[in-house]
Amino acid sequence: MPLLETKGLKKYFETPRGLLHAVDDVNLVINAGETLGVVGESGCGKSTLGRLILRLLEPTAGEVVFDGQNILGYDQPRMKEMRKQMQIIFQDPFSSLNPRMTVSEIIAEPIKVTRALPTQDAILERVFDLMGIVGLAERFVNTYPHELDGGRRQRIGVARALALNPRFIVCDEPVSALDVSIQAQILNLMMDLQEDMGLTYMFITHDLSVVKHISNNIAVMYLGQCVELAATDELFTQPLHPYTQGLLDAIPVPSLSAKKHFNIMKGEVTSPVDPNPGCRFAPRCPRVTPSCAEQELELRERRPGHFVSCCR
Ligand SMILES: Nc1ncnc2c1ncn2[C@@H]1O[C@H](COP(=O)(O)OP(=O)(O)OP(=O)(O)O)[C@@H](O)[C@H]1O
Ligand SMILES: [Mg+2]
Repeated sequence: MPLLETKGLKKYFETPRGLLHAVDDVNLVINAGETLGVVGESGCGKSTLGRLILRLLEPTAGEVVFDGQNILGYDQPRMKEMRKQMQIIFQDPFSSLNPRMTVSEIIAEPIKVTRALPTQDAILERVFDLMGIVGLAERFVNTYPHELDGGRRQRIGVARALALNPRFIVCDEPVSALDVSIQAQILNLMMDLQEDMGLTYMFITHDLSVVKHISNNIAVMYLGQCVELAATDELFTQPLHPYTQGLLDAIPVPSLSAKKHFNIMKGEVTSPVDPNPGCRFAPRCPRVTPSCAEQELELRERRPGHFVSCCR
C-alpha cells in the first residue's frame, strides 16, 4: 500500500540567471513500512524534494499524496495536524539542534508546541521514554548538544522526530556527518525503529553504500530528475543508467584489482538553470550518442519494476 506518492512534482527557483530546475517532474511511490533511498550528487535536488514532500517548501507544480490525499490542497490548520505524521531528521545535528536547549528541552519541544501532553510531568515521562527508545542514557537529560558526541547528538534528532508518533520520516543525510562505525549504529537503530513502529522512510544520501541495507527501493537523481528507480538488489546487480553505474563504481571496494576504471564522473555538469531538452547526463556519459541531446526522456520500465530514463 502506498503511503506517499509524488506526482509530477516540480520546484523551480527564480535566480538572476534564469529558472533553476531543482526538482523536475519527480514521480515516486513509497509503500507503508518501507524505505525509499534517494541518492545523487550534491545539488541534484534531494533536500529540495524532501522539503517539498513535507511542504516546508511550496512546489511549482505537482502533487504530494499522503495516505491517498493530495496534501498540497490542505489549509493551514489541516496541514498542522498533518505535520505530526511527517517528520524530518537532518544531516548535521550540530546545526539543527538549538545549542541553548538541553536534551530534554529539545526532545520536548514538538510536544509542547502542539500541546500533545497536558502536564510537565507527562512530558518529562515521554522524554525519558523517547530517550530509552533511541538508546540515550537518562543521565544526559540535562546536557547540551555540544557536550555529546555526533552519534548521541543524532540520537537526539531521532528522538525529537519520534516525539509525536509520526508515520513517515524524511531522513536527509542523517549519518553523513558521522564516523563509519557510528553510522552503522544509527542505521541499525533506524531499522529497528522502523520494524517496531511500522515507520516509512525516505532516506536521502549521496552515498549509495549507506542505503544498501536500509532501502527496499532506490531512486537515483540527476540534476532534479529521477533517472533510475528499482528494488535495491536489482539496482546494485543490474544498474541500467550509466550514471548509476558510475555511482556504484565510486563505492570503495577492498581489493584494488576488483575495481574497473570507468571515468564516468568526468566531464562538465550541465547547469540546472534553464536546462536544454534531452538527457542532462549526456555531457558526462561514456555511451552518449548524437540523439541523446535531442530526445525528451521519460522513465521507462526496462525490466519488471525497474525504471530508467536512458535512450540506450
Ligand atoms: N532557495 C533556493 N534558491 C535558489 N536555488 C536553490 C534554493 N535551494 C536550493 N537551490 C538549488 O537547487 C538545487 C538543488 O539543491 P538541493 O539542496 O536540493 O540539493 P541536494 O541534492 O540536497 O544537495 P546536497 O547533497 O549538497 O545536500 C541546487 O542547484 C541548489 O543550488
Ligand atoms: Mg541536501
